Amino acid sequence: MSSKVTGSITVTMEGSNKSTTLPLLGGTLGPQVADIRKLYGELGIFTYDPGYGATASCESTITYIDGDEGVLLYRGYPIEQLAEKSTFLEVAYLLLNGELPTKAQYAEFDTGVTRHTMLHEQLRRFFDGFRRDAHPMAVMCGVVGAMAAFYHDNLNINDPEQRRIAAFRLIAKVPTIAAWAYKYSIGQPFMYPRNDLGYAENFLYMLNAVPAEPWVNNPILSRAMDRILILHADHEQNASTSTVRLAGSTGANPFACIAAGIAALWGPAHGGANEAVLKMLAEIGKPENIPAFIREVKDKNSHTKLMGFGHRVYKNFDPRAKIMKETCHEVLAELGIKNEPLLDMAMEMERIALSDDYFISRKLYPNVDFYSGIILKAMGIPTQMFTVLFAVARTVGWVSQWKELIEDPSQRIGRPRQIYTGPAARDFVPMDRRG
Ligand code: CMC
Repeated sequence: MSSKVTGSITVTMEGSNKSTTLPLLGGTLGPQVADIRKLYGELGIFTYDPGYGATASCESTITYIDGDEGVLLYRGYPIEQLAEKSTFLEVAYLLLNGELPTKAQYAEFDTGVTRHTMLHEQLRRFFDGFRRDAHPMAVMCGVVGAMAAFYHDNLNINDPEQRRIAAFRLIAKVPTIAAWAYKYSIGQPFMYPRNDLGYAENFLYMLNAVPAEPWVNNPILSRAMDRILILHADHEQNASTSTVRLAGSTGANPFACIAAGIAALWGPAHGGANEAVLKMLAEIGKPENIPAFIREVKDKNSHTKLMGFGHRVYKNFDPRAKIMKETCHEVLAELGIKNEPLLDMAMEMERIALSDDYFISRKLYPNVDFYSGIILKAMGIPTQMFTVLFAVARTVGWVSQWKELIEDPSQRIGRPRQIYTGPAARDFVPMDRRG
């Protein structure tokens, strides 16, 4: 499905009689988009949009967000329905292929992913090169990028079958790398994947099991993990996905592109926020300190943000946060955790923030990361692994977006322009004549 011309917009340059008419494009859902591609050619002007708040960088059929209504659709299916009724691997198939799988298609996909969970034994040695106290996201950037060295020379990204295998490899191996990054940091033996377990179960197994004891799956935890993976699987053209697309637009190796996405995800404004929320709650310490913290957040000179709040697109509520909050209560109840001080603090913080004019006027609401950290902590996942988990889930979205990019005939290398504000052309001055 491609966008259609739905109208036009005329741009007139004040003070001159130059003008041009640009097509307006419409997709299936969402606002119309001015196609400015010929603006520079016709009027000699660029557009300026730092942070790309008003710029569509591509056409995509994968994910739709309505930020005012709090809607998130994967291939048209509401996130609430997928979180309740589907599984992460089924969602992965949907994101990659556009439709929900039949039984036979699912079985083939499941086998495809499962048969690629092991890492090349040589790749195991990469872990030894890191310090034990390295942040696991640093290890992820390095080891996922290093996969390019194993699958490069014989990888033709223009061959659909090779793209399919690269997708299997990434979706299957990233949890193994993630779990090993953690095991390395605590000095425990690496646990090899178990293909008799489901995707989320196997990930929890590789994270938590030790060779000395049998490992028992807790179905409540593996279901919660599966749901967390679904909620994070894709989110249209966010910073990390745009990074993957930009790297991919050059024809770069897909494993290297995903490593670039992992790097972009790491920052606290993006995927690093779930870890930052817990750090923030720990620093605040007790509910009595919340008002002082909120005052600090509102102080323009403090640079302190209420982590887990606000979103570039959601200006009403983040539908993922709603599901995450419910899941959080469910997980704590199932685990028999009655009083979780962090959850109490988070809820008090949410209550105070949502009744404060600073947050109301700026349309700042809890985002997916506000509650995810608390669930993950209750599940026994170490804090430094939170963003890694986000990366495991988002790998599916990144791979789907990379595949869509490569298959899009209108795609060109990503190359933004700029407003140059540096010095005008000037002559070089030899050092002995510089004042
Ligand atoms: N705490 C306090 N003030 C905030 C916050 C916050 N969390 N978020 C935005 N603001 C203020 C911001 O200072 C600005 O105020 P003013 O108009 O007075 O200058 C106003 O709200 C608009 O914010 P913005 O910075 O223009 O918004 P943005 O779209 O550029 O940034 C954001 C979006 C998510 C980076 C930002 O809200 C933020 O840093 N939030 C905290 C980090 C976080 O939770 N990130 C996870 C995002 S969801 C997971 C994901 O998809 O990665």
